[in-house]
Amino acid sequence: MNQFNADHSLISPTAKLVAWWRSFSDIPYAKESSDLSHAYAAVKEMMAPHGIAPEQTLWGAPILEIRYKSLFREIKNSGIKQVLECASGISLRGLAMTTDPTIRYIETDLPGITQEKMRIVETITGKPANDVRPNLIFAEANVLDVTDLDKAAAYLDPKKPVAIIHEGLFHYFSRKEKIAATRNIKSLLKKFGGAWINPDFEFQSTISDWTQISADSKKVLSAIAEATGRAMLSEAFENEHEFKDFLKSEGLQCERILQFSAGMQISTAKATSVPEAMLDALRKSLVLWKITLIP
Ligand SMILES: C[S@@+](CC[C@H](N)C(=O)[O-])C[C@H]1O[C@@H](n2cnc3c(N)ncnc32)[C@H](O)[C@@H]1O
Repeated sequence: MNQFNADHSLISPTAKLVAWWRSFSDIPYAKESSDLSHAYAAVKEMMAPHGIAPEQTLWGAPILEIRYKSLFREIKNSGIKQVLECASGISLRGLAMTTDPTIRYIETDLPGITQEKMRIVETITGKPANDVRPNLIFAEANVLDVTDLDKAAAYLDPKKPVAIIHEGLFHYFSRKEKIAATRNIKSLLKKFGGAWINPDFEFQSTISDWTQISADSKKVLSAIAEATGRAMLSEAFENEHEFKDFLKSEGLQCERILQFSAGMQISTAKATSVPEAMLDALRKSLVLWKITLIP
């Protein structure tokens, strides 16, 4: 088994930031994944030029927890038994979901990240990543490359529908990339049927609201923009109307689903002392999009 070495990590600082936020939650493998990728050190380095300590960013933890748990719930609620996760980073949802043997899960990201994530999985499980479970596959796929997606999708049963999911990917794409990735994902929906479920379509007004969350949230967004080299605000759809029009022009339709649901525990609330008023605002505002082909 290859020894995982974080010294020359290709995992993006933003993937480590969200992994560190999740480590305060009860999400399976979140703590292990954060520790093994040395996420805290990466967050410290990422935030230092902006004059903030990692601990000042912890208002992000409940946002990530609610987002992760809502996707988990919606996959289950959809009744779809095959999942293709894009840009999964080091979130290890596949490892958590495939304890259910009826689920088939393909977890993908860019090549370097996938290899590094596989080392983390091997360290956690003591087995080569693609031998951990027969229903769990780790594969490389650039969402902007349809051939890559087709290769990853070759692990799926073509007679069954697929849930294509991602979280924290489309925010960083330019409009041109959003269109290209949408068309690639649509081509899979055409082959398999199923749904594209994600929380990634935020609008310009919502992103502006994030800067009001706390005194430091503007600085955190600047640190993310610097780390990714991507401007979230200018590339986002202006509002829901523009987004739905875009989907329609691509032959797609969407359902808006609240991420928070009754009974969902926000385990990061206590650990990170996020004010109740903010939690309440998150419960009411965070949404997922369930996108399907227009029949
Ligand atoms: C902010 S991280 C989120 C990771 C993970 N979904 C999570 O919530 O922890 C963004 C991820 O997108 C991946 N990514 C960026 N561009 C991509 C592309 N064109 N195709 C596939 N993955 C991509 C990065 O490698 C990174 O792991």
